[in-house]
Amino acid sequence: MGWKTLDDIGLAGKTVLVRVDINVPVEAGRVTDTTRIDKIKPTVEDIIARGGRVVLLAHFDRPKGKVVPEMSLGHIAPALETSLGRKVVFCSESIGDAAATAIAGAAPGDVVLLENTRFHAGEEKNDPALAAEMAKLGDVFVNDAFSAAHRAHASTAGLAHLLPAAAGRLMEAELQALEAALGSPKRPVVAVVGGAKVSTKLDLLGNLVTKVDHLVIGGGMANTFLVAQGIEVGKSLAERDMAETAREILGKAEAAGCTIHLPVDVVVAREFKANAEHDVVAANACPADAMILDAGPMSVAAIVKVFEASETLIWNGPLGAFELTPFDTATNAAAKSAATLTREGKLISVAGGGDTVSALNQAGAAEDFTFISTAGGAFLEWMEGKELPGVAALMA
Ligand code: 3PG
Ligand code: MG
Repeated sequence: MGWKTLDDIGLAGKTVLVRVDINVPVEAGRVTDTTRIDKIKPTVEDIIARGGRVVLLAHFDRPKGKVVPEMSLGHIAPALETSLGRKVVFCSESIGDAAATAIAGAAPGDVVLLENTRFHAGEEKNDPALAAEMAKLGDVFVNDAFSAAHRAHASTAGLAHLLPAAAGRLMEAELQALEAALGSPKRPVVAVVGGAKVSTKLDLLGNLVTKVDHLVIGGGMANTFLVAQGIEVGKSLAERDMAETAREILGKAEAAGCTIHLPVDVVVAREFKANAEHDVVAANACPADAMILDAGPMSVAAIVKVFEASETLIWNGPLGAFELTPFDTATNAAAKSAATLTREGKLISVAGGGDTVSALNQAGAAEDFTFISTAGGAFLEWMEGKELPGVAALMA
């Protein structure tokens, strides 16, 4: 596929700098979701099994080039130790003598975790001097941070040019899943795109209509498309100034042979709150004083039909205000149908993006999906057809 994997690179006796994304949610000092940490285990184990010494490089949050103690990776080390089942040696620097000493002193099978790379201003600038300092610490570079691959930073793109470089197992799995979903997919392909605003997903919609056979539009952005067709949506969230853009996307889709699916019925309420009194009405019959908070049952049935007729599904964004019951109904029902079809071997289903993954988890559908990306922004940029610098650097 144009990049090397762990199978293509000598690791025995080598110090392997592994860029991971352990930018996990933390509340009151505790990691609340260890998914990203758990997913690096295959790479770590593989490198150790092949006789390599693992040194992890990672960012946490956005300290903007300064040392911010609350953003120290030291806070993540215990969760990492639990997940990996190995001793983690934390070093409060990511370059220099301290880091070199920590690496040299670690016992075989220990994992060295270096401090937040973003404590150095050069990280986000992809400063060659910082990348060169990092490169001094190891013999080989492995990038396992697909979810940070949309950033051209010293520890993602920069390092890959300085050391023999390969993709880690998670990076490999992400790239394979994405290739199967949009690169050379089994057709027909259906994409579900939801979320609040057309304006934040313009590039995404524009790229998808040229790649997929069916595009299901949900969430607040569907309202903008209804408005674009001259339909009144009352007090619904809608970007009226994007109506012309929405019409352009509809035109582009038609020219490309992509069928767009908008809600035919909707759930409306007068208040934006859980369990607000609500009604199901036709999509063109939203009362002037009400707002659309979910797709209706006929819309869901239509979506399920499209899923049944498709071979591949790629999903980003909820269909309604899924954080408020019962306005998660359409998202849950569509997600469950995708999960069932996948379990039955009838659908390849790939999903990504922060909200999407929580919505699919909430629906109890996530584990049946073929692949759930660990990425938020990187997944979106990839769906937009953009080159991801972290991946591109591995090709060089
Ligand atoms: C993420 O959480 O999406 C990645 O870790 C990238 O983080 P960033 O958006 O701060 O670059
Ligand atoms: Mg982000």
